Amino acid sequence: MLPSATRAALGAQFILTLGFGLAASISNSNDTVDSTISTSSITVDLSTRYQTIDGFGFSGYFGPASTIEGLPAAQQKQTLDLLFNTTTGAGFTILRNGITVDVIQPKGPTLANGTATYAWDHSDSGQVWLSQQAQKYGVKRFFADSWSAPAFMKTNDNEDEGGYLCGVTDATCKTGDWRQAYADLVVQYLKDYQSEGINVTEVGFINEPEYEGSYDSMLSSGTQAADFIKVLHPTLQAAGLGQVGIVCCDGIGWPEQVQSTKELIAAGVEPLLTHITSHFYSGLPSGPMDTTLPVWQTEYALLKATYSDVWYKNGGGDETEGMTWANLIFQGIVQCNLSAYLHLWGVQASGAAGSLISAGFGGPVEASSLLWAYAQWSRHVRPAAVRVEATLTTTIPNVVSKRDLYVIYNSAFENPDGTVSVQIINNGAPDRPFTVGVDSMDVESAQAWLTDSSHIGIFAVNGMALSKSGILSLTVPTQSMVTVLFTPASKA
Ligand SMILES: *[C@@H]1O[C@H](CO)[C@@H](O)[C@H](O)[C@H]1NC(C)=O
Ligand SMILES: *[C@@H]1O[C@H](CO)[C@@H](O)[C@H](O)[C@H]1NC(C)=O
Ligand SMILES: *[C@@H]1O[C@H](CO)[C@@H](O)[C@H](O)[C@H]1NC(C)=O
Ligand SMILES: *[C@@H]1O[C@H](CO)[C@@H](O)[C@H](O)[C@H]1NC(C)=O
Ligand SMILES: *[C@@H]1O[C@H](CO)[C@@H](O)[C@H](O)[C@H]1NC(C)=O
Repeated sequence: MLPSATRAALGAQFILTLGFGLAASISNSNDTVDSTISTSSITVDLSTRYQTIDGFGFSGYFGPASTIEGLPAAQQKQTLDLLFNTTTGAGFTILRNGITVDVIQPKGPTLANGTATYAWDHSDSGQVWLSQQAQKYGVKRFFADSWSAPAFMKTNDNEDEGGYLCGVTDATCKTGDWRQAYADLVVQYLKDYQSEGINVTEVGFINEPEYEGSYDSMLSSGTQAADFIKVLHPTLQAAGLGQVGIVCCDGIGWPEQVQSTKELIAAGVEPLLTHITSHFYSGLPSGPMDTTLPVWQTEYALLKATYSDVWYKNGGGDETEGMTWANLIFQGIVQCNLSAYLHLWGVQASGAAGSLISAGFGGPVEASSLLWAYAQWSRHVRPAAVRVEATLTTTIPNVVSKRDLYVIYNSAFENPDGTVSVQIINNGAPDRPFTVGVDSMDVESAQAWLTDSSHIGIFAVNGMALSKSGILSLTVPTQSMVTVLFTPASKA
């Protein structure tokens, strides 16, 4: 997505009508919470297991990657640390790159069965460099997505303004069926990145295929996408790139992607894919997607927003505030079974288009409150973590608060290194005492981190107590997110 005036207007229009879809079935919108301060408890059960997490991330496509590459050295380091460092930044683990088709194949043959001529500039607008920087922080997941096939492969002979890939259902062209040529272009891209030391792990060939953007855009139903997947899958296998997962379809919103997923399944291509991918612009999820594949939210942001360090101010649900994103990510990961959650842009000057960090064009580097909401999740819910049951026992009437938020949200994950992280979001007031424990875990130590209106960043929680039996007592302040991390005693 590009923040063209049209796009931003459209985004804003969608967002005004959104709210939090999940609590639609809950009628109580009374704001009042119990002011009796009794201790609530969260108990984690490692034997009740849900989805595996792939990670959290953002995109550097359409300019932000080269903006970061062009920063003065000190600012560049500061920005990269804010994005990828697990002790001073968000600790992101997925980078979404855009496939710039003009860089790979600037000019096509006349006919679809003609010989392709490829090119490569070793930069791809800074995306190669940004990927290599991410690798230095341990990032291993690179999702490459193409917004559109090149103009010469499409029904409208234009990379922008929609149009279809010639050769899919209901899209015939005089120049032939370009599906194989497009699959070959994707293979060429993957090889180019490989030659720069970057192994792309997931590839998508379409972006918001329901929307005719004035920028790179290509229309496709789920059925039409399946027509191409049937060509792309064997092409990757034949090129020795079978380990690269094919994903689909980066729908403009959840309802559109639900429809595309149905069509992919009906066309029999679900086994050829590794993930279903969706954006949230036209609508948020109201529950898990009906698929056996892991689902990623691959692009979302409040497009009209600029940089803000306000964590919570307007009573909940304001997408310029970090607290709102702490809740959005909760709803995506916990209530809707997502395995990854990606913001649109990590960095833009003045935090344009709701980006997480403001940097570039001579300005200072500033992290928005949104970055810290992501950091609360991403730092301690690491790739391959498994979501586990976390049961809340409380006297707080967990009624719906403003904008349909529950007062308390809680979740837990077992990381591959054996640590267990627990998330607590307190959407209400006042500050609440909690005890948190993990069943049948021999706890060696516990740490906890806080973000709230007076702690914009990630701050250690003070005044905690860990009992001999491994139960942590702490206070979760009003309108805050707290993450607890339990480290097990070594089994040596
Ligand atoms: C919230 O609910 C309580 C008890 O049901 C009621 O007394 C109070 O007036 C309600 N408050 C609002 C703002 O609706
Ligand atoms: C992350 O930040 C810490 C603290 O400043 C620093 O010691 C570490 O080297 C950084 N990690 C990377 C990969 O740069
Ligand atoms: C290429 O396609 C055209 C029609 O689109 C056909 O006439 C021609 O024979 C094809 N050439 C080869 C070598 O298959
Ligand atoms: C990329 O994959 C190749 C082949 O599987 C492997 O040898 C190489 O170490 C990988 N590189 C990175 C950076 O993961
Ligand atoms: C959650 O996603 C996983 C894949 O990550 C899938 O196997 C499982 O069936 C999904 N659960 C629900 C309730 O949709």
